[in-house]
Amino acid sequence: MKTQAKASAPAKVILFGEHFVVHGEPAVVLAIDKRAIVTVKIRSSPEIFIKSEDLGISGFFMNDQFFPQKGGSEAKRKLEPIHAVAKEIIRKYRLKNGVDIEIKSSIPIAAGLGSSAAVSVASAAALCSLFDCDKSNDDIFQIAFNAEKIVHGTPSGIDPAISTYGGILWYRKSEPIKRLNIDVDLPLIIGNTRKQRSTGDLVAKVNSLQRRYPTIIDKVIRAGGEIVKRGLEALSERDLETLGELMNINHELLCALGVSCEELENLVHAARKAGAFGAKLTGAGGGGCMIALASSEKVEDVADAIKKAGGEPFITRKTDVGVIIEG
Ligand code: MEV
Repeated sequence: MKTQAKASAPAKVILFGEHFVVHGEPAVVLAIDKRAIVTVKIRSSPEIFIKSEDLGISGFFMNDQFFPQKGGSEAKRKLEPIHAVAKEIIRKYRLKNGVDIEIKSSIPIAAGLGSSAAVSVASAAALCSLFDCDKSNDDIFQIAFNAEKIVHGTPSGIDPAISTYGGILWYRKSEPIKRLNIDVDLPLIIGNTRKQRSTGDLVAKVNSLQRRYPTIIDKVIRAGGEIVKRGLEALSERDLETLGELMNINHELLCALGVSCEELENLVHAARKAGAFGAKLTGAGGGGCMIALASSEKVEDVADAIKKAGGEPFITRKTDVGVIIEG
């Protein structure tokens, strides 16, 4: 048996369809060139030790009890999904050993870029490689998705799906995941408001609005699904102007669901004013990140405008590399 294994998985941006996807509509999502890297090692004793240097948290899980080493009770909440991944693999294969799990990630946390899913996916792949359990990407996705449900309440599964498979996906709950083989260069600028938020809370907020105003909110959600259909045509025609316009409409629908905020609005409007084809919040909203689509010539102007409006900009590229075992 190996004594150590390492895997990595990418972050994501949702181009169209966040929140609507939780309610059964499709969404389009891209993997981006920021990754979470997880290294796992066999322990001779049965505890699961998890450490994230970037977050400054660590601790042991033993018989479902948590013993923090760094970061107190907050550490438990953040490390729980990774524990769930490890526990499921250890239980399923009746393994006797515990593990050390070390996380390193360049993905901003709680920012809408799928950081927790990328860590769960990379952890599942690294542990499967360590214990030689022959797992397909579909199994890795399912293990990570089960863990995501612990932190995000009723997630759609889009985040672990894109971290597992990479590229561009068309995703709809309970339907086969479709990889879109569209060769299109999308110059995207991400703007981070640096305001952290909880995906679970925002999904619950939309659920509550939908329960109180079903006839209104259901129409907004269905309109979100229509954007995806039209967006697919624009993607295959490489029509960046239409994609930008659809991103703007998508953003306004998300505003109607109450998931934007002042900080996001400032960055979205700054990007549009600087000449972006379109801009929208990405992920759960309430803070976190927005994305703007621009021509290659305008990318730097848009990034500067986001910075001036108080955000942290970075220019990003799509990656086709989903979860991988690192050599
Ligand atoms: C989170 O990246 C996207 C949401 O649609 C939640 C989900 O789909 O699980 C807000």
